[in-house]
Amino acid sequence: MGFQGVGVESNFITLLRPLEFFICISTTDSATALPVLPLGVLPKIPVPPLKQTLDTYLKCVQHLVNEEQFKKTKVIVEKFGAPGGVGEVLQKRLMERRDKTSNWVYDYWLEDMYLNNRLALPVNSSPAMVFPKQTFRDHKDALRFAARLIQGVLEYKALIDARALPVDFARGQLAGTPFCMEQYYRLFTSYRYPGLKTDMLKVHMNAVSSAPEHIIVACKNQFFVIDIVPNNKQLNETEIFHQLEKIVAMSENAEEKQPPFGILTSDGRTEWAQARETLIKEQTNRDSLALIESCVCVVCLDEPCGLQPSDTNRALMMLHGGGHEKNGANRWYDKSMQFVIGMNGVCGVVCEHSPFEGIVLVQCSEYLMKYITGSPSKTAKLTTERDLAPPRRLLWKYNPHIQGLLKASADRLQRLVNNLDMDVFKFMSYGKEFIKKQKMSPDAFIQVALQLAFYKCRQRLVSTYESASLRRFQEGRVDNIRSATPEALAFVKSMTDEKTTFSDSEKMKRLRDAINAQTNYTVAAITGMGIDNHLLGLLKTAKDLNMEKPEIFCDETYLASNHFILSTSQVPTAVEMFCCYGPVVPNGYGACYNPQSDHIIFCVSSFWENTETSSAVLIKALNEGLLEIRDLCNRTGAAATKPADSSQGPSQTHKSGK
Ligand code: COA
Repeated sequence: MGFQGVGVESNFITLLRPLEFFICISTTDSATALPVLPLGVLPKIPVPPLKQTLDTYLKCVQHLVNEEQFKKTKVIVEKFGAPGGVGEVLQKRLMERRDKTSNWVYDYWLEDMYLNNRLALPVNSSPAMVFPKQTFRDHKDALRFAARLIQGVLEYKALIDARALPVDFARGQLAGTPFCMEQYYRLFTSYRYPGLKTDMLKVHMNAVSSAPEHIIVACKNQFFVIDIVPNNKQLNETEIFHQLEKIVAMSENAEEKQPPFGILTSDGRTEWAQARETLIKEQTNRDSLALIESCVCVVCLDEPCGLQPSDTNRALMMLHGGGHEKNGANRWYDKSMQFVIGMNGVCGVVCEHSPFEGIVLVQCSEYLMKYITGSPSKTAKLTTERDLAPPRRLLWKYNPHIQGLLKASADRLQRLVNNLDMDVFKFMSYGKEFIKKQKMSPDAFIQVALQLAFYKCRQRLVSTYESASLRRFQEGRVDNIRSATPEALAFVKSMTDEKTTFSDSEKMKRLRDAINAQTNYTVAAITGMGIDNHLLGLLKTAKDLNMEKPEIFCDETYLASNHFILSTSQVPTAVEMFCCYGPVVPNGYGACYNPQSDHIIFCVSSFWENTETSSAVLIKALNEGLLEIRDLCNRTGAAATKPADSSQGPSQTHKSGK
């Protein structure tokens, strides 16, 4: 097959040239008509003008560093951007790269954001969707749910393989433009291999391969293979249910019990890569790994974790499984999609983030939830069923050294579990409809409220990341909206330190300025004019050219501006569920929010080991701030005729104790 990609090996293709990859699928998979894929017609991501990025950079960092440091930075930046300077050389190279590739930033971004990161995937990288709590009367109920979910996955995957998913279109800012659909094609075909220095993301081309499809089921830390198409006929839901029942029975057989190898995938990437090198010396282990690495998805049948199924605890179970004593080893984190079905009704999906963004995960999850609840389960009336061979248990060869590695990984996961301070908060006083009535962007409003909350806690603003979708462009992923704007700082000061100095109308003006600045940055970022990808591209180009690292990238300000103490993301859902993730730096917060018409769900995370952060404290400040902003809007009369209800006070904040 005429793959244009770099690193083609057997059925695998590395994700270095995704455009060609998909063109390749479209031309070789003659059984499937390729509908109007926007990919080919979408524009390429632009390279922003150098001066524009450098000016914006200075504006973004001025109020985040001290005056002396900023003066130093300004000199460095001006030198970098001077006519005939290093910046111009690098910019020219980037423009050439743009001409030659379908997305000039894709590989740079993927490596920087994910593959070079050595931290463990759970908590630090892999987000999770938490499904509504299910009520299972017994384990059979849970298995029925699992069978239905697997059936839904197979139907959704068939739509993807046939390129039959309807094209997504932008909503909100600059609504109506078509989105690149490429991220969907990686949902069930990706695998992230650990590497000693950098990981490798690969796509398994099931759509055009003759390899039989299978899923992996994890149960009591054992891994089993279910063939999806035994004897050339796809399993029906009843058959899946019975295969799952067999797995549960097999997992209880103490004599055949295998050590909990999944725990290795929860470790730091270098540690796991080293362990994997040891494992693959044995053919048995190579065979087991090969089956996991080529599966459609992993389905984790979890034991009850013994915790109240609160929103926060369900989020924790999705993010890390509760450590090795709970379900922490009943996972395989390298696989892009892992569905979790807890026997106690705690369900969701945890995903390896490098192949796709949360928005695509939401679309898939919503499809599955609608599929599950949409019509009665077919396992109820047992349809014709074949006499199938039982699923195969994956076997491992091990020795005391490998057992030591398992123990070390378990200890490190436990530390991560103990360290995660997670708090899911449903702000019930108002939602995006109230904000829209103020003629403000709900997303910008929430971002400004997050800045206010942080300022209330720490009396300063910090470098903030908000994901901005680039799916308007070929192979677009995300860039950063730098939400800690100078206008946000002016507003939050007027609401806190200087609240007695400013009248309501002055505060309201500052609020509107902050929201306009945030909205303008959003529009810039989603149209490819963000600064983070551009600066990264210039840095990586210098590296490609074997140049000495330009001073601008060694500067303290640049390092601080890339240390995202607030890592935020809007992940809205149309079905009852929510997304959550961990902080990206030890002294930071993860803040994922899901705006609904009359309420907003916030998932705030931080680390207990850091004495400066507390998720409960940030949430308390967020609740206060959101109410204060609403009251300001209502008082100044900018609100629409009917103000939002003011019944909820800060005392209703849901807190987790530290
Ligand atoms: N007055 C009234 N209504 C307004 C308004 C205003 N001034 N500004 C916006 N609105 C409306 C919009 O029309 C939209 O209406 P809808 O709900 O009917 O569609 C709604 O408010 C939401 O718009 P807004 O809050 O401005 O946000 P958005 O939907 O454009 O989202 C981003 C902004 C940055 C979140 C979005 O562009 C994006 O990039 N999302 C992807 C994030 C991502 O990738 N997350 C996952 C990372 S893993």
